[in-house]
Amino acid sequence: MEAVLSAGAGESTRPSPSVPPLTDAVEGALREFFASRADTVRSVGGGYTEAVAALESFVLRGGKRVRPVFAWTGWLGAGGDVAGPHAPAALRAASALELVQACALVHDDIIDASTTRRGFPTVHVEFADQHAAQQWSGGSAEFGRAVAILLGDLALAWADDMIREAGLSPEAQSRISPVWSAMRTEVLGGQFLDISSEVSADETVEAALRVNRYKTAAYTIERPLHLGAALAGADDDLVAAYRRFGTDIGIAFQLRDDLLGVFGDPEVTGKPSGDDLRAGKRTVLFAEALQRADAADPAAAALLRASIGTDLSDDEVEKLRSVITGLGAVDDAERRIARLTDSALTALDSSTASGEGKQRLREMAIAVTRRDA
Ligand code: IPE
Ligand code: IPE
Ligand code: MG
Ligand code: MG
Repeated sequence: MEAVLSAGAGESTRPSPSVPPLTDAVEGALREFFASRADTVRSVGGGYTEAVAALESFVLRGGKRVRPVFAWTGWLGAGGDVAGPHAPAALRAASALELVQACALVHDDIIDASTTRRGFPTVHVEFADQHAAQQWSGGSAEFGRAVAILLGDLALAWADDMIREAGLSPEAQSRISPVWSAMRTEVLGGQFLDISSEVSADETVEAALRVNRYKTAAYTIERPLHLGAALAGADDDLVAAYRRFGTDIGIAFQLRDDLLGVFGDPEVTGKPSGDDLRAGKRTVLFAEALQRADAADPAAAALLRASIGTDLSDDEVEKLRSVITGLGAVDDAERRIARLTDSALTALDSSTASGEGKQRLREMAIAVTRRDA
């Protein structure tokens, strides 16, 4: 996937080895933004500099940069000129999405009690460990969570700062403003639905798909593309086509994430495997498995219901993997991903996006739905 997401920031033709990857350009913009905040952070003092440095390394040391790349490519496909005078501001605006992502992930890992992210301890664990190592007073876990809440808040506040200071024209700024607002509201709503369906044990596939749409598809692909289109001043038809494409690919992206959450290799994903089951996540995969079990295999249904949301051993997770696969839920998820990809590509093909935009978005759609990380 890396090659697809790394198409050069300064090239409108196919990427060549001499063109710096787009992901590098995104990281450069983020680095510059962090540097612009350094004096204010330093003036606060008292360990804040080190805490913010941890946020900076979280943002810079990993991540596929899916959201900025979709925003940038959406802008390109809507007529944005990568060699033109508006390109640097568009790149900064797209890169600000990584700060929304930092907030989402840092807080998500508290909510989901996850211990690893991007191959490193999660932020709340990192600070809990620091608290324990320093033998500070009070609870280590509480301290870790409190720091991670603050750093997540800071990332979201800085995302707003970064997009406001991106150097966009006032017209472009007012075009993107409602898109940015909707995106933030939707992702938080999606996270809310996610935890609600967990506690209410909502078992329907429809509910799980709705969670996916708002917790992931909206802020990962649909709205980043919409943002890129709005930056370029695209018309309503292209926006509508991008949003159809983005919703379908975004849901497929999360379906892949659900599969990786149960069957993925932690060495490759950088996240633990089996945690969705332990945490009681009502994923589409789980809902499908349950539906099939209810129809054909009461013992499997009972096992699934008794296991979800409990402190499963690795062997128990392995057993659930084979039950879920045996029920046909994995094949179901693969078919659903394929259907969503087809409908997304149909919307893209009949859109007015530029030929190059279509080509890149097509490759990206395949890459993000077939990934293993
Ligand atoms: C993880 O997003 C959270 C989801 C919405 C599934 P990514 O898979 O894009 O995570 P990074 O940014 O590459 O780490
Ligand atoms: C993804 O949540 C959505 C957000 C982070 C907003 P998940 O909890 O499903 O994603 P992972 O698997 O932890 O990355
Ligand atoms: Mg979550
Ligand atoms: Mg999570």
